[in-house]
Amino acid sequence: MKEMMEKLREASIRAILESEDVDSLEALRVKYLGKKGELTGILRQMGRLSAEERPVMGQLANQLRADIEAAIDARKQVLSSAMMEKKLEAEAVDVTLPAAETRLGHKHPMYNVLDQIKDIFIGMGFEILDGSEVELSDYNFTKLNIEESHPSREWTDTFYFTEDSRVCLRTQTSPMQVHAMETKTLPIRMIAPGRVYRKDEVDATHSPMFHQIEGMVIDKGVTMSDLKATLNLVVEKIYGEGTVTRFRPHHFPFTEPSAELDIRCHKCGGKGCPTCKGEGWIEVLGCGMIHPKVLAGCGIDPDVYSGWAFGMGLERLAMGEYKISDLRLIFENDERFLEQF
Ligand code: DAH
Repeated sequence: MKEMMEKLREASIRAILESEDVDSLEALRVKYLGKKGELTGILRQMGRLSAEERPVMGQLANQLRADIEAAIDARKQVLSSAMMEKKLEAEAVDVTLPAAETRLGHKHPMYNVLDQIKDIFIGMGFEILDGSEVELSDYNFTKLNIEESHPSREWTDTFYFTEDSRVCLRTQTSPMQVHAMETKTLPIRMIAPGRVYRKDEVDATHSPMFHQIEGMVIDKGVTMSDLKATLNLVVEKIYGEGTVTRFRPHHFPFTEPSAELDIRCHKCGGKGCPTCKGEGWIEVLGCGMIHPKVLAGCGIDPDVYSGWAFGMGLERLAMGEYKISDLRLIFENDERFLEQF
């Protein structure tokens, strides 16, 4: 029996040292020390031994069990630290490798122009308002004194959401005048840039979506000379000192009197060239004194308060500033174009 145990010791220790992973170590534990294992098998034969031999063999068997168990644990330690090392090696990150390059874009040319204009107006104490592009026709038209028969109200000109024409995509930023009058306390000095929508076919000068900047001042004693002085200053800041302007009479339903502001062509000095299409002048914006009906409709007494307003197209301004010949280039987001600015 002693011999059998010695053999078992030798065989088991060798098998344990040769095992390559934790699972096979567990299998060896069952094989040698389990209930139906080899050591138990040997101990079953204890009955055959004499009363003196039994405790000696029992002690030997206990020692053998402890040794096999110790050998399994020691091997387990070796295997798991080797496994950990392998894993660390496989998952190693080389922190010295150069990082993947992130390409940084830059501001769109049109937003450069918008930022420049915002700066000019902020410098004069105006606040900047943001408005909804989905608008009630009441605000887009009616409250701006645009009569029912006005062509801009036609389904062929305006994107409506409802059969009854109550809700539309705003065709101009002018409804922001009404929103400001209804929600702000007087006096008001604001500009409101944003997108507007009209049913226009896309070509070099038209797009169904474009940007406008609305501006408005309301206070006691505001006159047309305030309008002219302020807008002349703005134009000089945009186009350079000494830029010549002219205010050409025009009609807008929500201003009275109304005008269009032209600048003398900065390219040809007024002689006529491709930039000004031979006119000598370039149209920049529409403006006027806010119609008393519009003020009164917003709860402002036109006998006490007066105001002026303007609206200008942002794309046209950016096209002038950067000599962009086709409106579509502004919206296509072709990097070859945008990278030039
Ligand atoms: N909303 C006008 C348009 O889209 C532009 C405009 C003209 C705005 C005169 C104004 C203004 O505020 O006073 O053609």
